[in-house]
Amino acid sequence: MSSDRPRQLLLALESSCDETAAAVVDRQRKVLSSVVATQHELHERFGGVVPEIASRAHVERILPVIDEAIRRAGAKLADIDAIAVATNPGLVGSLLVGLTAAKTLAMVLDVPLLAVNHIEAHLYACQIAAGRNVFPAVGLVVSGGHTNLYDCRSPVEFELLGSTTDDAAGEAFDKVAQVLGLDYPGGPLIEKIAAKGDPKAIAFPRTFLKDERLDFSFSGLKTAVLYAARGTPGSRTPPVPLTEQRIADLAASFQAAVIDVLVGKCEQALLKANRSTLLVGGGVAANSVFRNRLTEMADRSGVELIIAPREYCTDNAAMGAIGWELLDRGVYSPLDVDVTPGLVRKQR
Ligand code: KG4
Ligand code: ZN
Repeated sequence: MSSDRPRQLLLALESSCDETAAAVVDRQRKVLSSVVATQHELHERFGGVVPEIASRAHVERILPVIDEAIRRAGAKLADIDAIAVATNPGLVGSLLVGLTAAKTLAMVLDVPLLAVNHIEAHLYACQIAAGRNVFPAVGLVVSGGHTNLYDCRSPVEFELLGSTTDDAAGEAFDKVAQVLGLDYPGGPLIEKIAAKGDPKAIAFPRTFLKDERLDFSFSGLKTAVLYAARGTPGSRTPPVPLTEQRIADLAASFQAAVIDVLVGKCEQALLKANRSTLLVGGGVAANSVFRNRLTEMADRSGVELIIAPREYCTDNAAMGAIGWELLDRGVYSPLDVDVTPGLVRKQR
């Protein structure tokens, strides 16, 4: 692009769960601004996201967040060349707020509207971090709502290899945090407390680890932590008192069990899909112990590992830069495009 040609700018919006986010990304995938308004304080006392509260908060925040993203990018609304928005998967009311804002802007500015899959965008965060093409690869998205393994053939071709059969890994972190008397979201707090505990203190189950299927299950692990903390129903043995050290040991042993399974399944998926690059994104990928274990595995097996940078692990709109990939391929969305709360497993 010659220097006298105006920059081409994409405005990306994200409102699939409890983060209201907007970002401006140029055609070279350079993130010019990324604004995230979290709602954690609104959901904390419920121990999880309350959908109705989330959508109301998105309505209040979306316009100031968009304004701030455009301002920080040093741009004007009229400079925007395309609008990307997460339309799937997520909470229906939350997704609708982002989509309505995106449609309105696309119509008023007369620019293309690009409907983005939120989970695929989590993996695209790795491409932004690398600053070059990272496909084909195996991709793991491990968040509060999803634990999905993909064969990523290109930035627009994702084949689901396996997923959780019950809870997502992040959800397990949040529920276990509740059991241990910690706040929401539980992941970062479990990580902090686990640092003082013994990961081998309690041998929690590693469901499906030895199984060939690339699926996950965390609900048995969650129940095992509950019983270890509060006692097994019907048992005469009283539970070990929940001292600070016991809480740290439970947190560390739980975290170790989740990480063993996640890392083991990535290794299996790389072999099965015959890929030598691994992309990891989603909120749980912010966990340092997990990042270190992935790095060890990648070094041992000669795999190129790209983990999304921490600020792009949890929900954000910069990863909506995947919209450029759709635009490059002429995959626009009509203005009557709808949201889809469940994961769409389409083959493009
Ligand atoms: O990707 P994300 O922001 O939202 C969804 O799309 O779900 O992920 C949020 C999840 C929460 O369950 C949170 O507890 C978890 O990511 N999480 C972590 C850490 N930071 C966030 N889990 C483990 N360790 C962390 N450091
Ligand atoms: Zn997410």
